[in-house]
Amino acid sequence: MAEHPVQSIRDTPNTPFDISLRPPMFSEFAGQDKVCQRLELMVQASQQRGDVLDHVLLSGPPGLGKTTLAYILAHAMGVNIKSTSGPTIEKAGDLAGLLTTLERGDLLFIDEIHRLQPTIEEYLYPAMEDFKLDIIIDQGPNARSVRLNLPKFTLIGATTRAGMISAPLRSRFGMNCRLDYYTADELQKIILRSAGLIQVDIDELGALEIAARSRGTPRIANNLLRWVRDYAQVRAGNKVTQSVADAALSMLDIDADGFDEMDKRILEALVHKFNGGPVGLNSLGVAIGEDAGTLEDVNEPYLIMQGYLKRTPQGRVALPAAYRKLGIAAPSRENELF
Ligand SMILES: Nc1ncnc2c1ncn2[C@@H]1O[C@H](COP(=O)(O)OP(=O)(O)O)[C@@H](O)[C@H]1O
Ligand SMILES: [Mg+2]
Repeated sequence: MAEHPVQSIRDTPNTPFDISLRPPMFSEFAGQDKVCQRLELMVQASQQRGDVLDHVLLSGPPGLGKTTLAYILAHAMGVNIKSTSGPTIEKAGDLAGLLTTLERGDLLFIDEIHRLQPTIEEYLYPAMEDFKLDIIIDQGPNARSVRLNLPKFTLIGATTRAGMISAPLRSRFGMNCRLDYYTADELQKIILRSAGLIQVDIDELGALEIAARSRGTPRIANNLLRWVRDYAQVRAGNKVTQSVADAALSMLDIDADGFDEMDKRILEALVHKFNGGPVGLNSLGVAIGEDAGTLEDVNEPYLIMQGYLKRTPQGRVALPAAYRKLGIAAPSRENELF
């Protein structure tokens, strides 16, 4: 299959471009108002008490600002942040190595925390609760357990799959924040801010056009802005207006709803190959040549939120909006299904 431009635009987390556009503090972070208010209040309260921030779990689809918020929290608390991810912690020793280098109040950011091994999770519980780590050193007859006293630290966990976090782990976070997709207005603000930083000449309607086609996701908005900038530079005298943005995004096959090839392929498979469903996630994944996990984390949440499909115990089912999108009449049997 040919290289897919839109997939590559989505799958480029944390490029230098991404990092330079990351807002460093709450005042520059647009949207997620409730989450920000809660976190800011927690920061203020713990600073007043001279205490360490409570553990925070951030969940939501990719590109909505989980990593950004972790860094903003460290900045607001005036502490260091160490960053790692669930699958890279393989042994208890790896975890011990991370935890013992922290100073009081520091943040440990564990991305994709739902992918921690169960054994590592068990080590984490007493570390989070009592700031102690019992590890076994040596093997065979010399094996013995050693207790390490840790500095009081803050764990920030991030996950795209809140449902995959075990109940005991979840319950050890003092604050559980769910990030939601952004509105077009919020994304417009983010795009205008980014455009200022990378010095793109863009007007408000140009920014809104990109915003409306960014699937509610700041990371996609920034990546599309980068593409539109390139397009404007080569074809439109370096100025981004609504019509320039429209032409640039159409060239990427991103339609007016922000749908790309993959979204369309999902709906087409669901409606044409599986008769509207219900169909299991794995079968759907095989039909469109995409990994089921990626489908579930990356594409599906937006399609569900927008009312194109739904999850049922029997599998995925196309909703009337999916048929409308494909320009075909919904079958009448759908009335029985819903
Ligand atoms: N609320 C926001 N305001 C401005 N930019 C944002 C916001 N949220 C995310 N971004 C931008 O989107 C990019 C992706 O965010 P990130 O925190 O890496 O998402 P996640 O960790 O949830 O996948 C960041 O580099 C940042 O530039
Ligand atoms: Mg991240």
